[in-house]
Amino acid sequence: MIYLDNAATTFPKPEAVHQAMEHFARNDAGNPGRSGHHWATAASGEVEGARQEVARLIGAPDPSRVALCLNATDALSMAFHGILRPGDHVVTSRMEHNSVVRPLNALARAGLIDLDRADNDMTGCIDPDSLRRLMRPSTRLVAMTWASNAFGTIQPIDQIAEVVKTQGALLLLDASQAVGSIDVDVAGRVPIDLLAFPGHKGLMGPMGTGALYIRAGLDLAPWREGGTGGDSTLPVQPLAMPHRMEGGTPNAHGLAGLRAGCRWVMERGVGAIREHERLLAARLLAGLSSIDGVSIHGPAGANGRTGAISFTLKDLDPHDAAGALDATFGIAVRAGLHCAPEAHASLGTLPAGTVRASLGPFNTTNDVDHLIDALAGMLASTAKMSAC
Ligand code: ALA
Repeated sequence: MIYLDNAATTFPKPEAVHQAMEHFARNDAGNPGRSGHHWATAASGEVEGARQEVARLIGAPDPSRVALCLNATDALSMAFHGILRPGDHVVTSRMEHNSVVRPLNALARAGLIDLDRADNDMTGCIDPDSLRRLMRPSTRLVAMTWASNAFGTIQPIDQIAEVVKTQGALLLLDASQAVGSIDVDVAGRVPIDLLAFPGHKGLMGPMGTGALYIRAGLDLAPWREGGTGGDSTLPVQPLAMPHRMEGGTPNAHGLAGLRAGCRWVMERGVGAIREHERLLAARLLAGLSSIDGVSIHGPAGANGRTGAISFTLKDLDPHDAAGALDATFGIAVRAGLHCAPEAHASLGTLPAGTVRASLGPFNTTNDVDHLIDALAGMLASTAKMSAC
């Protein structure tokens, strides 16, 4: 099987991730922070180790500002419900995943927030001037994707962050397609207030892991309240980070894997991973452009994009094409709307969506060439059939 669905989840995971999870499950898997015996303290060490590696990878100066959670959707909901108050104005974009679209629409439909969407061009690139025009004194939050999961477009984050800072609002970035393959520095030149991301994509960890970074000085209302293993006499959620945001037993097995995944990414280097994906993306884009009947959607070149490449095929439904790639050629891709219907509406690929091939650190030029050959063969036989 040739796996080209890394935007959905990276596969395979590094061997060290499997080993770390197995070691934890067989040796240390007490309940972290709940008990005093050595299996529980070893488990706490694993969870705190994961927090530290995640913080290091995103440039967070204080690991306690990283709340560990289940996935990016969980982290985003934690941010929306923790920060927004009735009467707030929120700006988002048309390039968002449903993990941003749905909670914000629910808050807007309940009459709690006013919601606007900034414009983008036909490559999916959000226009910072359109964002600037939408900002109001009541704008509390700008919530946007760093890179489109559907089309791979990397957004002009520095310009967006400048607009948000100038207007005195907060910036929440969905970094689901960014962490691990784009250099992320939350305390960099233009600091980021809130960053939500999964552990199972670019960080190479297992599913059921994720994190929300919350910059120092910004306090969110806890969204998931419950036991934290600390002072049990407290009648309400403790205020200190990270326990403020982390009610309930965490996915410590997964976090052991996430810790190893982050280490693997940092050893290999985010820059090297990005360059590998960029070279493969350039090869795939060139190959797709050379086939009659393929239309690429999103950025046409390998710069300013991730390794998620969306395309449509003349006279072939995306789901049928993906099914044939799987069944006949042993190639795994994703088809349809990729949980981002507004992005497809904006780029004109409704209702069927696109075929998305997404590259990861373990892909090779051979994988790309196989996909190109398979698509060329499929289109040639479709053309022959329609000529009959
Ligand atoms: N959000 C993931 C994707 O884009 C699952 O496929």
